[in-house]
Amino acid sequence: MKKNKVSKAIFPVAGLGTRFLPATKSIPKEIMSLVDKPLIQYAIDEARAAGIEEFIFVTSRGKGALEDYFDSAPQLEASLRRKGKTELLEVLKKTTMESGEIAYLRQRDALGLGHAVWCARRLIANEPFAVILPDDVIAADKPCLQQMVEAYEETGGNMVAAMEVPFSEASKYGLLDVKEDMGRLMSVKGMVEKPEPSKAPSNLAVIGRYILTPNILKNLNKKMVGTGGEIQLTDAIATEIEVSSNVYGYRFEGQRYDCGSKAGFLKATVAFGLAREDLRDEFAEFLKGIAAARYAAQ
Ligand code: G1P
Repeated sequence: MKKNKVSKAIFPVAGLGTRFLPATKSIPKEIMSLVDKPLIQYAIDEARAAGIEEFIFVTSRGKGALEDYFDSAPQLEASLRRKGKTELLEVLKKTTMESGEIAYLRQRDALGLGHAVWCARRLIANEPFAVILPDDVIAADKPCLQQMVEAYEETGGNMVAAMEVPFSEASKYGLLDVKEDMGRLMSVKGMVEKPEPSKAPSNLAVIGRYILTPNILKNLNKKMVGTGGEIQLTDAIATEIEVSSNVYGYRFEGQRYDCGSKAGFLKATVAFGLAREDLRDEFAEFLKGIAAARYAAQ
């Protein structure tokens, strides 16, 4: 079966980021950086690696810094050029987007992730598309979305990234009811958004990477209100399972960091810091010292 290429991705970035106040009072959470690269840049790099060519941002009031980030910065570039800082110019080049490659639209009311995705319906039209939640940063040899696109080329349909989590954390995630577990890939017979642990169909959680068919947008048209009084993407996918049973979970290879939480963000900072050749030795030495001092104090 010939699959349509996945060339568009939606980045829902309308959230207020209240968990990171006061930092997020004046900067969008997606601009917060692991070492020196904003969360959103990790998401864009991953999307590009997977063949995405059109980037659709669903934003809200106060997210202007995101638009500036992807724009050219003539004054800064001129200054770096004058000083002969070619390496930094190269770094900047990777952050700018061609005109027309990126689109911003606003989610006027904060009605949930499903609603945010639905806001992009006219730009998606009738093609399969990806959704990337920039809070979920995934360190992997082969970027997660690329792994999924390769699997999708075999399966078609809808696909969500999946990962085992402790049952006690069920109420933080969308959880999969698995029909057939085939290793990396599983077919899915149901999905529940943030259930109580005792009602979780499994401990396989959806992580913020999706490849979806336009049918999901049709399901979202119904504006079904779900968990937390919000329009949930999980519910629109669950409806699709009932109609077409064309939904797969994909156990990706890689380490996921929940950068929507402070502890997750800190863990990612440490891991990405240690992965950097220019920082590794000094940073590891520091961590060793600080850990030893902490144990000695206990
Ligand atoms: C969203 C989704 C949830 C998914 C999670 C992954 O929840 O609604 O199904 O498991 O992302 O990070 P959020 O964390 O935005 O509340």
